[in-house]
Amino acid sequence: MAGLQITRQLLRMRRDWDRRARENARHYVVTGQTQWSDEEFFRSGQITLEEEILNDLVNVCQGKDPKDMKVLEIGCGAGRVTRAFAGFFGQVYAVDISHEMVRQAKEAVGGMSNAHVFRNNGKDLSVVFGPWWRRFGFGARTQVDFAFSFMVFQHIPSREIIENYVREVHRLLRPGGLFKFQVQGSPGMAHEAQNSWVGVSFTEPDARQMAERCGFEMRYQYGAGDQYYWLWFFKK
Ligand SMILES: C[S@@+](CC[C@H](N)C(=O)[O-])C[C@H]1O[C@@H](n2cnc3c(N)ncnc32)[C@H](O)[C@@H]1O
Repeated sequence: MAGLQITRQLLRMRRDWDRRARENARHYVVTGQTQWSDEEFFRSGQITLEEEILNDLVNVCQGKDPKDMKVLEIGCGAGRVTRAFAGFFGQVYAVDISHEMVRQAKEAVGGMSNAHVFRNNGKDLSVVFGPWWRRFGFGARTQVDFAFSFMVFQHIPSREIIENYVREVHRLLRPGGLFKFQVQGSPGMAHEAQNSWVGVSFTEPDARQMAERCGFEMRYQYGAGDQYYWLWFFKK
């Protein structure tokens, strides 16, 4: 994966999200309110946990005890969901492109020793289980049991970057494990290559073909045609 266009898009994404995070991170993470108290903001993360995880335990946990699971979150923002995940799962690894979002996410999970937050390059997961992990003597082939991303790909204006993340999740996920994520499904939301707010939209055939190309079975989907288009990709 290379190209000037992608380099420009990544720079733009980082710059825009850092600016948004400095201005009012919680508002740009969940735009429903301009001011969020800690209590309200973290409660909204609990609601995401309840709606997307606790209501879907058969697919997410597949019989495993959540406390024995390692999970990955792409685009953690200010740590809203990361914090809720750390209270439920054994180990949580979260990445985000923005320095300032990562700083706030680290603050949000402060004191939770099972939450690990990294700033990444906006296109891959090389920071997770990378050199720092091996330095502590852990294996290079460590896998996660579940991966998740919400309200992130809907902002990414490049199909290539999103697909690269899907391939990266495939690399880190255990066979049979689920990557549950949401993309932009609304055809009416026109994206522009250099706009980091409106992401590229996916139709059902787009999503199915991406799953096939990346080694996943797209078993379920919900919300085709809507902004919140949820996909359940199981690693073959
Ligand atoms: C609307 S916020 C959602 C945050 C979080 N997922 C939540 O639900 O609370 C979008 C987040 O995605 C991050 N992001 C945007 N593009 C990204 C990329 N290419 N790679 C990683 N993170 C990205 C932004 O920095 C921002 O923190």
